[in-house]
Amino acid sequence: MKSWLSLAIALAAPSEAALRFGCSTLTIQRLDPLVEPGKVPSAHLHQIVGGNAFNASMSGDVGEQGTCTTCTFSEDFSNYWTAVMFFKHPNGTYKRVPIMQNTALPNGINGGMTVYYTQQDFNSNGNQKITSFKPGFRMVVGNPTSQKSGVPGLKFVCLENKGTRFPELNDFPKSPCRGGIMTVHHFPACWDGKNLDSPDHQSHMYNTVKEAFNPAGACPSSHPVRVAQVAYETLWDTTQFASMWPRDGSNPFVLSYSDSKGYGTHADYLFGWKGDSLQRAMDSSCMFQGCENGRPLKSQAVNNMNKCSVKTQVQEDIDGWLDAMPGQVVMKK
Ligand SMILES: *[C@@H]1O[C@H](CO)[C@@H](O)[C@H](O)[C@H]1NC(C)=O
Ligand SMILES: *[C@@H]1O[C@H](CO)[C@@H](O)[C@H](O)[C@H]1NC(C)=O
Repeated sequence: MKSWLSLAIALAAPSEAALRFGCSTLTIQRLDPLVEPGKVPSAHLHQIVGGNAFNASMSGDVGEQGTCTTCTFSEDFSNYWTAVMFFKHPNGTYKRVPIMQNTALPNGINGGMTVYYTQQDFNSNGNQKITSFKPGFRMVVGNPTSQKSGVPGLKFVCLENKGTRFPELNDFPKSPCRGGIMTVHHFPACWDGKNLDSPDHQSHMYNTVKEAFNPAGACPSSHPVRVAQVAYETLWDTTQFASMWPRDGSNPFVLSYSDSKGYGTHADYLFGWKGDSLQRAMDSSCMFQGCENGRPLKSQAVNNMNKCSVKTQVQEDIDGWLDAMPGQVVMKK
């Protein structure tokens, strides 16, 4: 470990590299191979994007298991997921909020999310080696049972349009947002260098994330290895519900584990880049779309992203006006 780390530091040279890419929806289902492996259905509904090896339980080198991915980079069989958003009508029923594609991505992406892998920030690795995750690596950020907001990096943005990025809010917007709501999940980027996972799926990582994509703080000696900074942006098209807000003005949106405050916002990551592809990208100096077409990453067109899917294992209505969100008890009006 010690010699490996000093080698990594010796090799570090200034570099600028950042990935930002779209992934279309792979599936919206109650499955969670990370927190509830093997459980069909899992406790609450997720949107999952990424490789088609996604399943109720997953192990081994996921980068060698997928045959397609919903992401731009065709060697990225990782899975990325979050809870989904519902609208709670004043009459007590729920409707799933559609997911829309982000700005600055190629047209035609079906729902999904935008994924980032950055270094210290968009412009620099801070002269530190940025290490790729290893096969089998996984992590969670945030906690659905949290009773307070303010985990660094977990934010909501009230969209004026798809390009709105500020202000970042710690919890749900309090009034209708003209362009929808964006949820943002930044993962911690300091790794203990040893464990691919931990019992709470969090303690092998340490969070020094600052607001937005500002340079993160230094990694502590307990978690000395700077890995890529993973972040998700998901855009929820709340506009069709604008005329149905409750008369008392309270927020009608709720995350799929019955959270109307947004304190429990969380996200899951399961590494699945093929071979050394992610490390090559982090060692390069490519930015965003400039990393496509083999420079240095293989990429694919939107129609191929949209074609990739997995079988629905949990048969249940997720899109009607529902008395309760999938897996949740009926909440009193
Ligand atoms: C998912 O897991 C089930 C049960 O182990 C298995 O039968 C199925 O083939 C798996 N699906 C994929 C896509 O790997
Ligand atoms: C609640 O309102 C929605 C939207 O108008 C409607 O489609 C649905 O049938 C209503 N449900 C009940 C139980 O009133």
